[in-house]
Amino acid sequence: MANSIKLFRIIFSFFFLQQLVISNGQNNVIKGGYWLRDSGLALNNIDSTLFTHLFCAFADLNSQSNQLIIKPEDQDSFRQFTSTVQRKNPSVKTLLSIAGGRADKTAYGVMARTPNSRKSFIDSSIRLARQLGFHGLDLDWEYPESATDMTNFGILLNEWRSAINTEGEIRKARARSCFSQAAVSYSPRVNSLTYPVQSMARNFDWINLMAYDFYAPNWSPSQTNSNAQLFDPVNHVSGSDGITAWIQAGIPTRKLVLGIPFYGYAWQLVNANIHGLRAPASGKSSVGSNDGGSMTYSQIKDYIVQSRATTVYNATIVGYYCYSRNTWISYDDTQSVRNKVTYVKGRGLLGYYAWHIAQDQNWVLSRTASQTWGASS
Ligand SMILES: *[C@@H]1O[C@H](CO)[C@@H](O)[C@H](O)[C@H]1NC(C)=O
Repeated sequence: MANSIKLFRIIFSFFFLQQLVISNGQNNVIKGGYWLRDSGLALNNIDSTLFTHLFCAFADLNSQSNQLIIKPEDQDSFRQFTSTVQRKNPSVKTLLSIAGGRADKTAYGVMARTPNSRKSFIDSSIRLARQLGFHGLDLDWEYPESATDMTNFGILLNEWRSAINTEGEIRKARARSCFSQAAVSYSPRVNSLTYPVQSMARNFDWINLMAYDFYAPNWSPSQTNSNAQLFDPVNHVSGSDGITAWIQAGIPTRKLVLGIPFYGYAWQLVNANIHGLRAPASGKSSVGSNDGGSMTYSQIKDYIVQSRATTVYNATIVGYYCYSRNTWISYDDTQSVRNKVTYVKGRGLLGYYAWHIAQDQNWVLSRTASQTWGASS
């Protein structure tokens, strides 16, 4: 099993989504997308008709008070988020996302340690989500760091779910609107630690699987590879392998939501004439201006035109790459998005989500995904 431990460490970050949906409480499909305040995409410009659920990222934990807070510079847009995206799509549901890859993971472990600090966090999260008009909460704690963290995490989820149910009952009585919670996301193992799978299956409405970052120049500097392949006959590091592992660990298929990256990674090839998957590389390419050689889908499409890169769609893995001179880029495009969405629908998953929507170009990938799934309902 050493392999699978490694696999999970590489593969997933885990979003824990706890959603409070005011509606008939049914989630028949998740067509999700994350929005980041500083991503350059203005709230008014979000085409919310292409989504059923939008995640507003990120709120964070105040490690002194153990309360959920929103940075001052985010407050205005977070407050306007739900009403703005509902203008174009009145039925879209919104979730306030918590933590994220840059948050202080240790602070979450400290918060989860005692009943009092958990209660501060839970109560403040529900209050804040309500005040700002969100329908749900989404926790992206990357990652619990010890077996104790994992145990406490399971307890936190039990208490969180129970607080949400209680709050929902109060509201229901008051407003006569039905209030149910949906969703979470996570993975069974990370850093050799096992997630509290039973607690997660019981308490979360769904789980967002981060089925990307399998390979990137920072952790695979000497070899190119696909960052988000759906299938991997060679090493079994792929979206479908992750889905299978989660189902085997005990998460119901209908609680799984597959993440699709709207970005890719650019490597520097050692030899411009050797440009396949697993070609010799020397770290990230300077073309990828962002951290770790990542490029948005939009930047990649522009790069392909400008540099006349050769593009390859590999149907075996369901992934694209392109190359030009010594630059090699792994990414997703319309055909891989179409095939991923068809796959998750066919396998009976609840849906998909995009990380993140500002990286799209003219909504091409968002629209492809939504149309492939078909009319939601
Ligand atoms: C497609 O992917 C498979 C599996 O990794 C690999 O064996 C094959 O060489 C790839 N083909 C191309 C053209 O990249």
